[in-house]
Amino acid sequence: MIEELKKETKHLNTFEFLEFFLEKFGDKIALSSSLGAEDQVLTHMLYEIKKDARVFTLDTGRLPYETYDVIDEINLKYGVKIELFFPSNKSVEKLVNEKGINSFYESIENRKECCNIRKIEPLKRALKTLDVWITGLRSSQAVTRDKMQRVELDEHFGIIKINPLIHWSEDDVWDYIKKNSIPYNKLHDQNFPSIGCEPCTRAVEADEDIRAGRWWWEKPEHKECGLHKKGNTDVN
Ligand code: ADX
Ligand code: SF4
Repeated sequence: MIEELKKETKHLNTFEFLEFFLEKFGDKIALSSSLGAEDQVLTHMLYEIKKDARVFTLDTGRLPYETYDVIDEINLKYGVKIELFFPSNKSVEKLVNEKGINSFYESIENRKECCNIRKIEPLKRALKTLDVWITGLRSSQAVTRDKMQRVELDEHFGIIKINPLIHWSEDDVWDYIKKNSIPYNKLHDQNFPSIGCEPCTRAVEADEDIRAGRWWWEKPEHKECGLHKKGNTDVN
């Protein structure tokens, strides 16, 4: 299946690639959007192709308010409603009452526990409704992402995962956003190239890596929250 999909889509540009998958998978395909620049490009393309394309966000309860503004802007501009998935209230209450409100700064285990509760469990519920998961990953974003493919089997979650912008550069993303007047997170204008939860994201200096502001107290090889595991199958 993966091999076939790769072959059939090999020569398609990004827009055609998305058209192909939307046509083939109907409402069993969705973009998971963090409301970051890459996801904004994809959101725009998806709604151009199909007015009722599915886009969802994992609302961890700790997102920056600028991110919520983008959700509102998109909903208004495109006349849509981005789907929101929330963490379990019981799990969050247990976590913060037992370990404190900011336990993630104390250790990698604590940080992963929080990501697990606030992102991974809701992601699993979202993915259960899908055959294909669209992400805004780019290979040049991080050492953990350089082997990723445009079409992959995500063995961890057992789903076809497509990364339409995998070979785009940061400049490609911003050229597309500006050219098409796509709304974007205002934090990007304040030196936040990569935006996650508010307490786990800071601005970067000019000479720093684009993901240096994410979980900045951890080493680069640990900087994944579990959404995107290494070791996905490249069947090509
Ligand atoms: S993260 O794993 O470090 O948080 P990053 O912010 O680079 O990921 O985003 C990579 C891709 O993961 C996004 O393009 C999007 O597809 C998905 N993603 C990240 N955060 C979220 C979120 N809160 N809700 C939905 N999708 C997300
Ligand atoms: Fe928790 Fe930070 Fe992970 Fe958000 S990024 S889920 S606040 S540890």
